[in-house]
Amino acid sequence: MRVIFLGPPGSGKGTQAKRLQETRRIPQVSTGDLLRQAVRDGTELGREAKGYMDSGGLVPDQLVIDLLLERIEQDDCENGFILDGFPRTVKQADALEQALAAKAKPIDAVINFEIELGILVERLVGRRVCPKGHGEWHVKFNPPRTAGICDVCGEALIQREDDQEDRIRTRMETYRRDTEPLIGFYRQRDLLHGVNALGSMQDVSEQIEAIFAERY
Ligand code: AP5
Repeated sequence: MRVIFLGPPGSGKGTQAKRLQETRRIPQVSTGDLLRQAVRDGTELGREAKGYMDSGGLVPDQLVIDLLLERIEQDDCENGFILDGFPRTVKQADALEQALAAKAKPIDAVINFEIELGILVERLVGRRVCPKGHGEWHVKFNPPRTAGICDVCGEALIQREDDQEDRIRTRMETYRRDTEPLIGFYRQRDLLHGVNALGSMQDVSEQIEAIFAERY
């Protein structure tokens, strides 16, 4: 099963992708996570991407397309994947479509996380992440066992640079301008399924499972 999770920043794509990868045994492929790992590793890609990410803008299409296409060639993606945060522009969607068509392995479904953008600020401002990449929590909606500490490695949790309020506003504008057009792109291809992303994490998981149980 090859699935895309589409939605604005903070709508819960990453949270739900992690849950679905457990139940369906297919990997979450998050371009945001791959880019943050490249930044932590200090690679050339990481150095190039960091400024765009910190400001709330998009990393240039070709860099992300190359990164993503290389990742989904890996063995663990053979039976499918959940794309979280990719594609984010029509150019990225076209590149993905062409690459998958060449392998006769098209996208099966696109889950669109529907939610008022105004609500998302609280989710993003309260998010805390492990600096070593072990996961993320929320001060109110998904707190770690000990406040401010990573459940996995014990490091002090930090706030993502792009989770500052001014950066969140830029990310929302970027989403509206560059990513929202993909709703029409995938609706035209009859792949789009909407979920109400305002509910609890469990409620959203159940909506997604219901879509897959019915169709896939
Ligand atoms: P990326 O990491 O993809 O960030 P994003 O799309 O802004 O997504 P988020 O991780 O902020 O939100 P999410 O929808 O995954 O929500 P989450 O589940 O974490 O990208 C970061 C940057 O990298 C981009 O700005 C860009 O620069 C670059 N980039 C990445 N991909 C790119 C691409 N394809 N092209 C170009 N550039 C790219 O949840 C958020 C919080 O809310 C969490 O704390 C969570 O605990 C909480 N939460 C989740 N669900 C619920 C719920 N139902 N109720 C209450 N709280 C909830």
